[in-house]
Amino acid sequence: MHRLTNRHILIGITGGIAAYKAAELTRLFKGVGAEVRVVLTDAGAEFITPLTLQALSGNPVHQSLLDPEAEQGMGHIELARWADLIIVAPATADFMARFAGGMANDLLTTLCLATDAPIALAPAMNQAMWRDPRTQQNLETLLSQGVNIFGPGSGEQACGDTGPGRMIDPTDILASCANLIANGPLNEKSVVITAGPTREAIDPVRFISNHSSGKMGFELASAAAKAGANVTLIAGPVSLPTPKGVRRVDVESAEQMLEAALVASEQADIFIGAAAVADYRPQLVAEQKIKKGAEEVMEILLTKNPDIIATIAGQPERPLMIGFAAETENLVEYARSKLVRKGLDLVIANDVSQADIGFNADQNEVILVGPNGELPLPKAGKSELAEQLISHISQLMD
Ligand code: PMT
Repeated sequence: MHRLTNRHILIGITGGIAAYKAAELTRLFKGVGAEVRVVLTDAGAEFITPLTLQALSGNPVHQSLLDPEAEQGMGHIELARWADLIIVAPATADFMARFAGGMANDLLTTLCLATDAPIALAPAMNQAMWRDPRTQQNLETLLSQGVNIFGPGSGEQACGDTGPGRMIDPTDILASCANLIANGPLNEKSVVITAGPTREAIDPVRFISNHSSGKMGFELASAAAKAGANVTLIAGPVSLPTPKGVRRVDVESAEQMLEAALVASEQADIFIGAAAVADYRPQLVAEQKIKKGAEEVMEILLTKNPDIIATIAGQPERPLMIGFAAETENLVEYARSKLVRKGLDLVIANDVSQADIGFNADQNEVILVGPNGELPLPKAGKSELAEQLISHISQLMD
């Protein structure tokens, strides 16, 4: 799997003759499985049509900050948050000047100010404009602010001049962008993580669920993405933002979670089951809201849900399987029996009888139970703990 697969790439195209190469760049990003959205400046639209870029990216092209229709689809702040990486190619002298000056006078500059994703520019302009001290000063400013600059190349230019200012090849831009995406022990590895509770419907307005907030699974997804993995997070109903660089699939019930997990784990290297999946669901789901009757006691018959992690572990070409064990007693003993019964490679056991760890807490304390022994990890914030867990899990891949 390519490091850019499933990553959200925002391509900004400004007004230079090299804009035609942005079509090829869009195609290359799509070719490695990236999700692409294009922002075209007014000057960029003089060189390449939105229709071409829409066809190549598979998404509507964003052109104006104040276009109500575009804003309805995805507002500019949402777009800035959506991006895992912004690449402006070609980046003209004018764009560099406006961006270096902190201006937000069009959609692209506004996005660049509003994002916390890495930003890269592939400059393209006449050689004299590139050498101009004002452009060089803007370049220095942008570099000092952490903006990545790819190129420019040198050679014959469209205007007939020769010298620096040619946009580098789209294949080189793609490779440089891949290097900007998190680089770590899980590079090019595909990780599937389940998180949160499931909801098992009783009738259209009631359900059985549990206190899982999704925090542990979401922190694991974030840590895995930071370690370079391509992460699919299958989330039960929780109100947490999607971690950067993570592809999220929302589900409600255990059966939906299983369906999503089976699809996502086909190509996966690692599967982590952090979700608190309901073991049982109502046998019948009432079509209409159940009315209160005269009876004092009401019975709901439950039927067993599929065991998601055991099902994936039983597949012939299975990923490395990591489960959790949420226990209130006999932590290690019960975790070890889950390791064997569900066919897992590692179980992360947590004591959910304590209020300050486990369910819906910001901290957790776990014992790693593997085939050859146990390793306790002390109480820590779920974010810190997730990083330790991902580091440990990535060693199991070696
Ligand atoms: O979400 P938070 O508020 O941050 O809380 C984190 C957590 C306590 C939910 C998490 O750390 C945790 O322990 N998750 C697993 C909870 C659980 O349901 O454990 P279990 O012992 O019942 O299940 C064992 C393993 O089988 C788990 O990996 C679970 O995801 C999986 N399972 C369980 C039942 C089922 N039908 N299918 C499953 O895949």
